[in-house]
Amino acid sequence: MSTGRFITFEGIDGAGKTTHLDALERIWREAGHEVVRTREPGGTPLAEQLRGLFLHEPMDSLTEALLVFAARRDHLTQVIEPALARGAWVLCDRFTDATFAYQGGGRGFDLSVLTTLEGWVQGGRQPDLTFLFDLPPAVAAARLAGARQPDRFEAQDQVFFERVREMYLTRMAQHPERFVLIQADQPQDIVARAIGQALAARGVA
Ligand code: TYD
Repeated sequence: MSTGRFITFEGIDGAGKTTHLDALERIWREAGHEVVRTREPGGTPLAEQLRGLFLHEPMDSLTEALLVFAARRDHLTQVIEPALARGAWVLCDRFTDATFAYQGGGRGFDLSVLTTLEGWVQGGRQPDLTFLFDLPPAVAAARLAGARQPDRFEAQDQVFFERVREMYLTRMAQHPERFVLIQADQPQDIVARAIGQALAARGVA
């Protein structure tokens, strides 16, 4: 059985990951790979329904954590694991690092519970590579200002996003082998070049 690559894209809201996800999706399709572009919470009909609740309905932190891991379980079993097993490249907009950053860092939810849920839901599955788009929350907020009606997370203040950012950096320090730090407060072409260089250094083409 061949195995694909599992690549995730993380960062606070307004970090600009979508543009670069679009570009990598196009480049890797043109190179002949089967690319599965997906997102969390979401990626299956059930998980997309859970996403709607997660982003818009009031709930406590444990409910939030359980919902996002329930969506993740469905996504993994229905989409991600089958795609990796047939050799596809899975590009996922956010994954479990976001849960540690937003629920653990932002909300202050118990990290040991998140670690237990991570083990139950994922077994040993982790991304092969994670791009962390890092920038000061003030810069991200200025980018998002007036863009659209904010969801429950986008509506948080900068202190929340400082905590989210810190927890992303903590996750990176705990898993240095799979993280690539991207300084996202730079012009798009410079960010794209940094991504290209990181991929080349890891022999990903
Ligand atoms: P996002 O991925 O930024 O999508 P869009 O660009 O359409 O807004 O939105 C998802 C939001 O959900 C984002 O604010 C982060 C939050 N989130 C969590 O709080 N925990 C998680 O585990 C995940 C995957 C996302």
